This record gives sequence, C-alpha cells and structure tokens, in this order.
Amino acid sequence: MRSRLMMYSTAPLDDPVGQSLGHHHAHFARRRGQVAVYLPEVATFCAVSADPTGAEWADLARLLGPGELADMFSCPATPPADWEPVFVLEGRQMIRPAGNRPDRRHVETGTDVVELGADSVPEMLDLVARTRPGPFWPRTHELGTYLGIRDNGTLVAMAGERLRPPGWSEISAVCTAPEARGRGYAARLVNALVARIEARHERCFLHVAEANAGAIALYEGLGFQTRKPVTFRGFRTPGQSQPYR
Ligand SMILES: CC(C)(COP(=O)(O)OP(=O)(O)OC[C@H]1O[C@@H](n2cnc3c(N)ncnc32)[C@H](O)[C@@H]1OP(=O)(O)O)[C@@H](O)C(=O)NCCC(=O)NCCS
Repeated sequence: MRSRLMMYSTAPLDDPVGQSLGHHHAHFARRRGQVAVYLPEVATFCAVSADPTGAEWADLARLLGPGELADMFSCPATPPADWEPVFVLEGRQMIRPAGNRPDRRHVETGTDVVELGADSVPEMLDLVARTRPGPFWPRTHELGTYLGIRDNGTLVAMAGERLRPPGWSEISAVCTAPEARGRGYAARLVNALVARIEARHERCFLHVAEANAGAIALYEGLGFQTRKPVTFRGFRTPGQSQPYR
C-alpha cells in the first residue's frame, strides 16, 4: 500500500526531466557533475538541481558546447546573464486523476491504431512538420510507445510517450493532419495510450501551450485536469557554436 501511494505522488512532476533522466531514461542521459541532458537525437531537454550553482551552469555549458540550445523545459532556474534567452512559452501541466473514466465515445481504439517504430520515423517527422505539436527528434520514439492511425496508407494521426518520471508517463506529440481532424483520431490515440499506461499502474500527464485552446479542450474531454501553470524556456550557452565539419 505504501509503495503504491509513493508511486502516485505528484512530486516527480515538479522536475519531470531530471526525474526521467535519473530513472527510466538514465540510458538516454549524458551527465557532468550534477547536470544531465538527453542524447541530442532523442530530446534537447536539460536537467539541473533545484538551486543550481555557477559550477553547475558551467558543467551544463561544457556538456552542450558553446552557442548551443539549452532547452530547460519547465525548470524555473535562471542561468547566468551571458546565456542568451531563446524562447519563453507559457503552458500548463495536466494530469489524469486516478480512476477517472474516459468519455465513452472515445474509448474504442479500433483496429487501425498501429504501433510506430523506427521504420515510421520519416512519416512521423513529416506529420510533426505539418502539424507542429511540439519538439520531436529522430529517436524521440525510443522514449516510449508511439501509436498512429493511417488513412489509405498515409500516417494522419499520432501520439506517444515522452518523459517518464517515477510513477508517471507523459503523453506527447499528439497531432492529426489538418485534412483528418474532427474524426476523433487524437482522442482514440490518447485513450489507447492512457489504457496502456494505466495498465502498468502508472498515471498519465502532459504539457500543453496555454494558447492551444483546441488541445486543452481535447484533453479536458478525456479526463485530464490542470495541475499547474508552467513556463517553458530555452537559452543559448555562451560562446560561438562550432561549425559542423
Ligand atoms: C489538437 C489536435 C491533435 C486534435 O486532433 P483531432 O484528431 O482533430 O481531435 P479529435 O477529433 O480526436 O477531437 C476529440 C475532441 O477534442 C476536442 N477538440 C479537438 N480539437 C478541438 C479544437 N480545435 N477546438 C475545440 N475542441 C477541440 C473536441 O471537443 C472533440 O470532442 P468531440 O468528439 O466531442 O467533438 C489537432 O488539432 C492537431 O494536430 N493540432 C496541432 C498539433 C497540436 O497542437 N497538438 C497538441 C500538442 S499539446
């Protein structure tokens, strides 16, 4: 009982990148001292301690290299003044409360929901480029299960798992091609992931941009509730990036 209660603690959700890299995704981590980053072809997210020292920021700069993106995800820590701000995006973190039943209209997963693996990466990247659900890289699909729906052989909708802090799995890359929207594809894919995640006794969470009212409506309809507002920030490490050879 005690372990189940600990597993469902929301505390890991306050540092989802660090908690993922420290546990389920440790094999995707590059580390230096206290800091960790994902392998760049998997994700660009960085993790630092709750109150990083100057030495930690220096370690992160060395890990990433000069003039490179430090995607701090929702981490509130501010790097030194010579780190150039690259982006700021207001968003929210949503969780799916335990025992919350999905809307019955969207429970049916259908036989046309397929698992997407390495062979599907080119079409996943193409769908992401057309729909812009958020960052997605050539090896992001290795972070968890990715599901899709094809229409006449063409991938028109997908969703998958990204961050995985203990007890939780983040649903991400939810997108439907413009010509296939409004058919319930995103709802079916998210529900199929929810079923898989909850079957292994984990709980679902996700992040969404505050301006994305359509996606927020989708997630609320599937039983997700807002846990807290978050601010996504990215910075450029000091110095000049090295030209690729
Ligand atoms: C958001 C998105 C994934 C929805 O895909 P979709 O396949 O059209 O969604 P569905 O047809 O499954 O919609 C299911 C429910 O979500 C809600 N919904 C979906 N899109 C909505 C919109 N733009 N506005 C309001 N509600 C919306 C509807 O209430 C719908 O419920 P209904 O069956 O009662 O009508 C799609 O618009 C998209 O790819 N957007 C760009 C990428 C993106 O922003 N992804 C989310 C990143 S967090």
